[in-house]
Amino acid sequence: MADRSAMSGATGGCFVVLEGGEGVGKTTQWRRLADRLLAAGHDVVALREPGGTPTGDALRAVLLDPASALAAQTEALLFAASRAQLVRDVIAPAMHRGAVVLVDRFLLSTYAYQGRGRGLSLTALREVNAFATGGLAPDLTLLLSLPLDESMARMHARGGADRMEREDAAFHQRVRAAFDEALQPAWQAEHPETGPVVAVDAGGDVEVVTMRCLAALAATWPDRFSEGPKEEGRMSAIEVTHG
Ligand SMILES: Nc1ncnc2c1ncn2[C@@H]1O[C@H](COP(=O)(O)OP(=O)(O)OP(=O)(O)O)[C@@H](O)[C@H]1O
Ligand SMILES: [Mg+2]
Repeated sequence: MADRSAMSGATGGCFVVLEGGEGVGKTTQWRRLADRLLAAGHDVVALREPGGTPTGDALRAVLLDPASALAAQTEALLFAASRAQLVRDVIAPAMHRGAVVLVDRFLLSTYAYQGRGRGLSLTALREVNAFATGGLAPDLTLLLSLPLDESMARMHARGGADRMEREDAAFHQRVRAAFDEALQPAWQAEHPETGPVVAVDAGGDVEVVTMRCLAALAATWPDRFSEGPKEEGRMSAIEVTHG
């Protein structure tokens, strides 16, 4: 497993993660960003967690099935196992060739859900996930931010609650607090493994939110994302069901 410097900046790839609580619009924006960047000529690899590999997709089915009775530790290890496979099979090769890698959830979700939500040790989660990722950190995380009542309303309007979504309001409040904490510069300084995290206002029309996400990418990589349309890009992998 190569270290991060060999997989990221040195190769010109961009590892971008969409994060936030349930129903804030991550998957919606992930799809829209992938489409938009593809149309602008970028080599895009769009992935979701858990999943993104055959092994990861099998783990995803177990993790999201309301019938699964998982110990919190089992849940954390299965997420990490899916992540380990995704990093090695897909993210690292894509970064090596200089692609834009867009991932719907990553390490920050582990800290928020399994750490703050389930109460597992952050130190343990950190060690397990350092092992899983081999130290590969996102270059940028877009944290979609929306008041909890609005995201819950979006989630309920969508219907079909999975195992996480069935948790009570207190669980979701703890998750939300963990995401909010990750925006603090002091927290980020102590957690280089998550990479830089920026808030994106997830309120309002979907297109407006997409423009905010694109602006955040352009602010981080002005040369790469501020240009006009180029020749048609290629999409290497994208999930088609909602995440
Ligand atoms: N800007 C928006 N305005 C109104 N509705 C939205 C907006 N963005 C997304 N939605 C709707 O809200 C619901 C939740 O969106 P989405 O599935 O993208 O959220 P998510 O963050 O991926 O949720 P989860 O954490 O459950 O995966 C969907 O029905 C989607 O169509
Ligand atoms: Mg989703």
